[in-house]
Amino acid sequence: MTARVNWSAMRMAKAKILILGGTGEARELAARAVARFADQALVITSQAGVTSTPEPVAGRLVSGGFGGISGLQSFIEDEDIALVVDATHAFAATISDNAYIACLATRARRITLVRPQWEIPEGARVTEVADMAGAARVLEKLASRVLVTTGRRGLEAFSSLQRIWFLVRLIEMPAQPLALTDYRIITARPPYTVEDERKLLGEYAIDGLLSKQSGGDATFAKIIAAVEADLPIVLIRRPDLVPGDWTASIDDCLDWLQAQL
Ligand SMILES: NC(=O)c1ccc[n+]([C@@H]2O[C@H](COP(=O)([O-])OP(=O)(O)OC[C@H]3O[C@@H](n4cnc5c(N)ncnc54)[C@H](OP(=O)(O)O)[C@@H]3O)[C@@H](O)[C@H]2O)c1
Repeated sequence: MTARVNWSAMRMAKAKILILGGTGEARELAARAVARFADQALVITSQAGVTSTPEPVAGRLVSGGFGGISGLQSFIEDEDIALVVDATHAFAATISDNAYIACLATRARRITLVRPQWEIPEGARVTEVADMAGAARVLEKLASRVLVTTGRRGLEAFSSLQRIWFLVRLIEMPAQPLALTDYRIITARPPYTVEDERKLLGEYAIDGLLSKQSGGDATFAKIIAAVEADLPIVLIRRPDLVPGDWTASIDDCLDWLQAQL
């Protein structure tokens, strides 16, 4: 007896797209993918779940991590994910590495959506470093009142810097004190304007800025304000991009998805 193929069910089956999120670009991509591929695909966005009040996302949302490479691999297999967009932040290297390996193992096709790097204005006093330890080696030579915009991870690299007062800007108040000697935390959420940033630098008599080379319009104003004030900027370089297809454009990413569906 030959098995009967349920053609109408096969026509109904939609491909699943997993967007690894946590960025504004991921949210925009999800909204546009849900609208554009309504008849062809289901869109799932995953977030690490690190902020208590994340902004809303179109489509299905999963939050809280997968449990490493094997967890992500299982999720892709169990959910039958065909396409993965790594739209995480350029500095979220662990999840990008995990996605690279899990997609190789499952044969899910993957593309990275990455923000273009900032073009630093001419004349800026920039010291580029590889990481927070590199920043710790140069900071005391450059400044004594430093605005830190790198998030709370890795600040222990500065715990022995006694001569610096840190103004640490975070999305929300951390549950634990920071591993710094002398600091103040302020909470705020991008986007920031140049006017906001000028005011902040002046109000706290900031004489140095520590930032990641994050790219994107939402947080570039601090660089402009620091350059205007002729402040030294310590800029943490990006980790290497994982191999494979990548784009900096949401339009191109949608076209890539369309071509794969
Ligand atoms: N690093 C930054 O500067 C920065 C800035 C803005 C936004 N973000 C966003 O914040 C999130 C966390 O950043 P991070 O630097 O801590 O990441 P990370 O070091 O690359 O990842 C740490 C762990 O968080 C989980 N995770 C991260 N992104 C995830 C996602 N989109 N979906 C599900 N799980 C995720 C994974 O847990 P499991 O191993 O359990 O799967 C991962 O192993 C990222 O999604 C990133 O896009 C980061």
